[in-house]
Formats: sequence, C-alpha cells, structure tokens
Amino acid sequence: MASEKVLAYLDANRQAHLDQLCGFLRIPSISSQSDHAADVRQAAAFVAGELKELGLKVETIDLGGHPLVYAESEIRPDRKTLLFYGHYDVQPVDPLDLWDKPPFEPVVKDGYVYARGSSDDKGQVYAHIKALEAYVREGEDLPVNLKFIIEGEEECGGHSIYTYTEENPDKLACDAVVISDTTLYNASTPGICYSLKGLCFMEIRVTGPAMDLHSGSFGGTVQNPGNALAEIIAGLKDRDGRCLVPGFYDAVLDLDQEERDGFAALGYTDEILKQETGAPAAFGEKGYTTLERMWARPTCDVNGLVSGYGGEGAKTIIPAKALAKVSMRLVPDQDPAAIAEAFKRHVAAIAPAGVTVEVVNLHNANPVLVPRHSPMMQAGMAALEKGFGAEPVFIREGGSIPIVGTFQACLKSPVLLLGYGLSTDNIHSPNEKFLLENFWRGARTSAMLMAEAAK
Ligand code: BES
Ligand code: ZN
Repeated sequence: MASEKVLAYLDANRQAHLDQLCGFLRIPSISSQSDHAADVRQAAAFVAGELKELGLKVETIDLGGHPLVYAESEIRPDRKTLLFYGHYDVQPVDPLDLWDKPPFEPVVKDGYVYARGSSDDKGQVYAHIKALEAYVREGEDLPVNLKFIIEGEEECGGHSIYTYTEENPDKLACDAVVISDTTLYNASTPGICYSLKGLCFMEIRVTGPAMDLHSGSFGGTVQNPGNALAEIIAGLKDRDGRCLVPGFYDAVLDLDQEERDGFAALGYTDEILKQETGAPAAFGEKGYTTLERMWARPTCDVNGLVSGYGGEGAKTIIPAKALAKVSMRLVPDQDPAAIAEAFKRHVAAIAPAGVTVEVVNLHNANPVLVPRHSPMMQAGMAALEKGFGAEPVFIREGGSIPIVGTFQACLKSPVLLLGYGLSTDNIHSPNEKFLLENFWRGARTSAMLMAEAAK
C-alpha cells in the first residue's frame, strides 16, 4: 500500500529530518523587530527552497511586509486540493537571561528540541513539508493537489496574508485548509480543534502632570496617573472574574450540552492546571469549569502595566504617566470592533477626574468556530489516529490564529486545525520546546491526511 512506503520513509528519516529542522530553527526570524528583517527573509527562502526542491512551483510574494511563500503541486482536476497554512516567523526572545540555552542554537534534550519557534510554528510547518517529501522521494503519486501558503507576519500582525487571500481566492481555492499551529490535548491524546478565541487588544494611556513630580511637594494636589490607572483596571472586572464592560457577554454563544459533556469527559483538573502553570490556584469566572473558561469563555486581562519607578530602592515621585496593555480574548460570536467600542465607553465612564485618558485599539482577531461533523473532519480524525496511534478528541483553544476567519470568509472551505504542539511547550516564553515524537508523528499525520482527504 502506498501509504506504508510513505510512513516507512518518515520513520527511516527521523534523525535526518530533525537535523534539517534544526537548520530552520537556527534562523532568528523575529518578525516584529526590524533588525531581523534579513533573517525573516532567510527563513522564507529556506521554506521556498525546500518546497522547490520537492518539485512544487514556488512564488515568494512581497506585499510590502515580510514575504509570503506560496507553492503548489501539479493541479489535477480529478484530485481534491489541500491548502496548508502556517508561519515561519517567531516571537521575540526576551528576557534572554531566562533561557537555559541561546534561543537560536537548537538543543535536543529529554526528547524535546529547544529553540524559539520550535513549536510555534516552524516545527509544525516542517512536519507538513516532510510529509510531502516522503511522497516525492518514494516516487508515490500525491493523493491530492497540494498548495502551501506560509507567512512571515503572524506574530507581528502584518497584513500581507489578508490582502493576498482577499485578492486571490481562486488561487487559494481548496477542499480544506489545513493548519498546524495549535496543540494536542495532552502528550498522549491528539486533539482536533474546532474553535479558536478572537482578540481585542487595547492600550490605555493615562497622563497627568507634564513631568514626574516630587511626591512631597505636590502629593495631594493633583491626580496620580498610576493611581488613576489602577482604579480603571479595578473597574474592568469584578472579584469573581466577570468582565464589567457593558454588553461584553451579549453575543457569547453558550456551550451546548454535548460540548460540556465532552469537556467534562476529558478529565482536566485544577491540579493539572497548577502543574502546567506553576500558579498557586485556579481562578476565573464563577459558574464554569476551568476547561470551559479556558476554551469557551471570553476573558479580560492586563498584559502589561507601567508607571513610575520600578528600580532599586525608593524614589518619591508622582509619575507623569501610566500605561496598560489590556487584551480581551473573545469567543464566537463576539465582534472585536464592537467590543473595542464598548471598552472605550466603559473606560471613559469609570476614569477618575484630573487625568487625560486615551484608549487605543491596537489589534483585533475574530473568533473561530468550525463544524465538528463533516467529511473533512472525519479525514482529520482518521489521520490523527493513524499518525499518533491514539484516538483523537475534540478540543477548543484559547489562542488565536487571526487569518482563519478570513480563510473561512474568502475561500468558503472547511478549516482543519491539527495541532502538533503541547500547551507546555513554552510558546512566546523562554525555553520554547517541541516534543520530537510530536514532530515525527505530526509528519505521519500530515502524510495520512493527504491520503484520507482523497477518499
Ligand atoms: N500558535 C499561536 C496560536 C495558539 C496559541 C494556538 C496557543 C493555540 C494555543 C499563534 O502563533 C499566536 O500566538 N497567535 C497570537 C495571535 C494574536 C497576536 C492576534 C495569539 O494568540 O496571541
Ligand atoms: Zn503560531
């Protein structure tokens, strides 16, 4: 059987594929930092080079930001078409001193490869490429037409992928979009993800006096921007973790009973959460289990908070300004633009007098829901089961992949979220890692998906 040769090839080449992945991981493709622009380009060239080497027709598309890599196999009308999406850019690495090893010098230890981008998302993208390689090197006919669109601006909020998708729906037309940029349920249980959270990212800028003031000379005479910002933040949520922005929950789709039962059957506990996060206790909105809050309830969180003096010793000042980054993770059917407006109105209503408060909407992403029961979901399930040797479960994710909503709207094809990462991979954090077994099993899954989707 064709697929057996393909799987045998992947098994025989595990070490070689890992070595090649390390080459990809050595490229410091941090998309949000302009001094890494050449590295980002080099990562694009790496992806383009591999796909070309495997006989695909490859284009590197420059729309003003970091390049998109588009590639396609021979397109035969008698075959179904899969479009693989992923990103070759990575998050910044600071704080650098918390890394055990330099982030762009991959190290293999305890069954993991450690490097920035290993899990998010280079390792997962590379699994797809190695699956294609297996068919090509074994001289096996591809069971489906393949298209790849791999971007370099996922982590920095760039627009190239949106523009390209909106302007080229025919070129990207497919029977399913396949994305590996999420996680398994846990190390022994693969998951197929059917919902991603959206995002509404806000910045609150509070200004008071023209400069930092001596807190003895002027304390008690003017509003303190630090205190004012703390008051605003305290007014965003109640003590039970419920967001106080009026209308915040209006559009939230409630979980249905099948979903609640499915979550409960997974057996996730607060003990597991404490182990995974190091937090002393679970906390969140009353009336929902931890997994329900993690996957299906919207949140409102400070992501950054700066005001006054934070250095060694005491410095007696009234700070001139204070700044907070606050993001809300959204769930279907919340609309980020509407939430941003409601947030602005709420902050204006609760802000104390005596300071100037500016609220800016920095970044939005739509939440995503995909139908759980479709032939392509079945193909994804079957591929995961063969690739990982275990029965997959339905999961949702708290993270966001902003382009997915645009794919759904412009391409009108089902989206398959087959994650090969783990929630403990430290993505966006020091010591990011990727389980080698998941890399190899992921490549097997991608190869099997090509066969299953053809059925
Ligand atoms: N791979 C992540 C998305 C993700 C994270 C999925 C965790 C599942 C679990 C992606 O690269 C990412 O980080 N997305 C950003 C998007 C945001 C900046 C709009 C995110 O979720 O913060
Ligand atoms: Zn990612």
